[in-house]
Amino acid sequence: MRGTSVIPAKPLYEGKAKSVYASENPDELIVVFRNDMTAFNGVKHDQFTDKGRLNATASEFFMKMLEAEGIPTHHIRMSAPDTMIVRRLEMIPLEVIVRNVAAGSMTKKYPVKEGMVLDRPVVTIDYKDDERGDPMINDDLIEVLHILTADELRKVKEMALHVNKVLTRFFDKCGIRLVDFKLEFGKADGTIYLGDEISMDSMRLWDKKTGESFDKDVYRFDKGDVIAAYRNVLKRIIPDSGV
Ligand code: C5P
Repeated sequence: MRGTSVIPAKPLYEGKAKSVYASENPDELIVVFRNDMTAFNGVKHDQFTDKGRLNATASEFFMKMLEAEGIPTHHIRMSAPDTMIVRRLEMIPLEVIVRNVAAGSMTKKYPVKEGMVLDRPVVTIDYKDDERGDPMINDDLIEVLHILTADELRKVKEMALHVNKVLTRFFDKCGIRLVDFKLEFGKADGTIYLGDEISMDSMRLWDKKTGESFDKDVYRFDKGDVIAAYRNVLKRIIPDSGV
């Protein structure tokens, strides 16, 4: 048991920071946000008390906010503070990244300085495949590899940019700059849903005034106490969350 749901002994799928279990309802899955933290494709790995709950809380908060803005998400309800009941999706093996400011891999691959504000939000897409190091993919390849049709890809990009608008506006009010973030999508009954998570693990968040990082870069580059940084985000976005 975990909260109100019965969790089977074995997960259907174990990711780097979440485990996915079958539910008694065949249209639903149980996602447990674990305390594992990894970076650089699993090369760096640690565990931090409470990390799963912090990311689950943020993810639930953003999924609900996006639903209210008309973006379908897999979130159904929480069965425990670190456990989300979600709609079962056929996942699309793409990491859809929206960038507002140059950072991370963009500054490694292209001659651009970290912190440069981009003229407009840019969508870049990686093919989700750990063994191949999640290579960047383009529209033509996505079509000819039958990952998505041109129409579906258009829809996915439109949804990603819509998410960016909603989140950028919200974070701005909290004194945070949304630098970039990664989304994953899936399909059910012909509809495209936002899946996976939206958390401090999957976004770059900088303090608007000081430029301080409040995201996984704190862990990636040993910039300080990553759990304190994650708590700081939650305090700003949900002041009454009591974290
Ligand atoms: O590494 P890169 O700069 O391309 O990452 C862009 C954004 O996508 C960052 O916010 C990063 O945390 C997120 N990301 C992720 N999972 C990955 C790759 C990137 O959440 N596998």
